[in-house]
Amino acid sequence: MSGMVLVTGGAGYIGSHTVWRLVRNGYQVAVFDNLSTGHRWAVPQDVPLIVGDIADMARVTTTIRKFHVTSVVHFAASSLVGESMIEPRTYYTNNVIGTLHLLDAMRTTGVDRIVFSSSAAVYGEPASVPIGEDSALVPTNVYGRTKVVIEGILHDYVVAYGLRSVSLRYFNAAGADPDGGIGEDHDPETHLMPLVLQAAAGRRPSVSVFGSDYPTADGTCVRDYVHVNDLADAHVLALESLEWQTEATYNLGNGAGFSVRQIIEAAQQVVGHDIPVFEAGRRAGDPAVLIASNRLAIKELGWTPQLADLETIVQTAWNWEQHRPIG
Ligand code: UFG
Repeated sequence: MSGMVLVTGGAGYIGSHTVWRLVRNGYQVAVFDNLSTGHRWAVPQDVPLIVGDIADMARVTTTIRKFHVTSVVHFAASSLVGESMIEPRTYYTNNVIGTLHLLDAMRTTGVDRIVFSSSAAVYGEPASVPIGEDSALVPTNVYGRTKVVIEGILHDYVVAYGLRSVSLRYFNAAGADPDGGIGEDHDPETHLMPLVLQAAAGRRPSVSVFGSDYPTADGTCVRDYVHVNDLADAHVLALESLEWQTEATYNLGNGAGFSVRQIIEAAQQVVGHDIPVFEAGRRAGDPAVLIASNRLAIKELGWTPQLADLETIVQTAWNWEQHRPIG
């Protein structure tokens, strides 16, 4: 495919891994990121980084024209579930209104292709697992509700304005690029795997287990962990699929569930020693089990997760934890 790909939120965790993958696959890429949570160091040196907000339509429009952008991969969003419940206005503004402005800029400039970062959070507490894309969308938090609204907007724009759009619903992104240089770095960190590994490295006194009384085999929550580079691959495939399809939605997970305790055990195997654990109460809003059906992405996109093995995911995250820039 010719033309430049604009990656909004390309300095963030999943965004930057996707940028590196696009570049390695020969795409021309520009990153648009306000650096509110992203990192300049995560963007390859030869990729232009435009520091701006997607709500700034004039800036996005100028950027699209300047770089001859022909498609957009849209990550830029506020993405903390807990924070979304306390600051709903920020989430609806940044995610929903921000996306509307981005879409305005795309329409103004005639850019008609978008790959959108959605989330398993759109499903809420699922009626059954594995979760298919046709499962009910009943999000239990504001973050998930913003993603449902945006998916709906994209559908309406496909029908009314001829947009071509793929939404990707990620399950639990984890791991780091095995070839080094980038990885997960949130402040504050809220995700299980980096917290477990920070406790392993002695950077935290312990890792909390949020609830041991769930209706699961060991009482802790079960999630579908998917390597961030496999997510990146899926974005490239989704972008390429817009050559032959106008609209689609795919779950991205490995179709396998691991409990919080299994993650801690896998991490202990990788680091070679015990990790201190603190038994905490449940965290509000956590579903007991989230496992993806990933059959549609495999069948239609030809997606083949390369780093699906849990030990590999943890190992790449541990390599990153030991080498990443601190502070
Ligand atoms: N957990 C702990 N201790 C911690 C942190 C997390 O036990 O210190 C548990 C959580 O309770 C949960 C599991 O580990 O059961 C995974 O938690 P994360 O915060 O790593 O991930 P979530 O499953 O809550 O959230 C992820 C994405 C969200 C997305 C959500 C979809 O980070 O963006 O999946 O449900 F919305």
